[in-house]
Amino acid sequence: MIPIQSVSWGPDGLSVRIVDQRRLPAEFTACDLRTAEEVREAIQSLAVRGAPAIGICAAMGIACAAAAYALNDRASFRDALGKAALTIREARPTAVNLGWAVDRVMARAAATTGDNHAVVAAVRDEATRILDEDRQMCEAIGVHGAELVPDGTRVLTHCNAGALATGGIGTALAPVYTAAGMGRRVVVLASETRPLFQGSRLTAWELSRAGIPVTVLADNMVASAMQSGSVDVCLVGADRIAANGDVANKIGTYGIAVLARYHGIPFYVAAPRSTIDPATPTGADMSIEERDCAELLRPFGVSVAPAGVLGRNPAFDITPAELLSGFVTDAGIHRPPFRFT
Ligand code: MRU
Repeated sequence: MIPIQSVSWGPDGLSVRIVDQRRLPAEFTACDLRTAEEVREAIQSLAVRGAPAIGICAAMGIACAAAAYALNDRASFRDALGKAALTIREARPTAVNLGWAVDRVMARAAATTGDNHAVVAAVRDEATRILDEDRQMCEAIGVHGAELVPDGTRVLTHCNAGALATGGIGTALAPVYTAAGMGRRVVVLASETRPLFQGSRLTAWELSRAGIPVTVLADNMVASAMQSGSVDVCLVGADRIAANGDVANKIGTYGIAVLARYHGIPFYVAAPRSTIDPATPTGADMSIEERDCAELLRPFGVSVAPAGVLGRNPAFDITPAELLSGFVTDAGIHRPPFRFT
């Protein structure tokens, strides 16, 4: 099975190629992004999604924008590059990886002396490093997290924190892939993740493609699955981890963590170091994206509520650190108490 590369350089080297996640599972197609506006739109519409993947796409998108401005005079090149970075940086507010990656390539641009072409090359190199490092961090998360997935484990996950969401084998799904690669039998329970179905559309798709057994649960079935003893461990990803260990992740994560505590089931968050944000003291300091209610009320264009009714659509929630059994990062498993500096 060819691993999924959710974000890569386009064939002409002047674009970012993404797997268009809006179309999965019906169609597995790629989409090439060339401009800052195209990258922003792809991130906002969730064509590319998942905290590490949007950071990587943003960095590569800035490199493509830089190449397009390379023949401008020096001042207008720097100006256009700054505007492109801002356009992309503000696409979504919650995942820290987005701003982190944009700031990283822009710091590299600022530190590069030489002509516009030297800056383009430096930004491109930095974006490639971000991609490569993410791939390595996913591998390391898989190795460290595999101890949580002994033979026969039934893992509950939420949303998609797999290969589609990263530059490598995922974060929450990395221990699953690694354990399966070691010959262990693993079963994944994927909560469907209303309103955009990342669990049923994406997690179920990539795991079945890899030959790993997966069962989809409607979000409201998680409590009963735990009550009946069908879940051994919960593994989820993160969009931002505060200094005190509070976690922003896909809406619904908090509820699963509460249920896991009640049922005595270990609950782990898997994330690379780029998702830790020591500058944000607690979950209360995080900005939670509010999305268009049409995603909730008219999924895939089908009305599931009366016309004119109100809805709410926060994309993420905050899981307090006290509900976590630990973090699985590329540096190892961290157990409480948490303090990220
Ligand atoms: O809105 P999405 O689909 O981008 O939300 C994604 C998640 O919440 C993931 O769990 C998180 O980004 C981690 S991906 C490794």
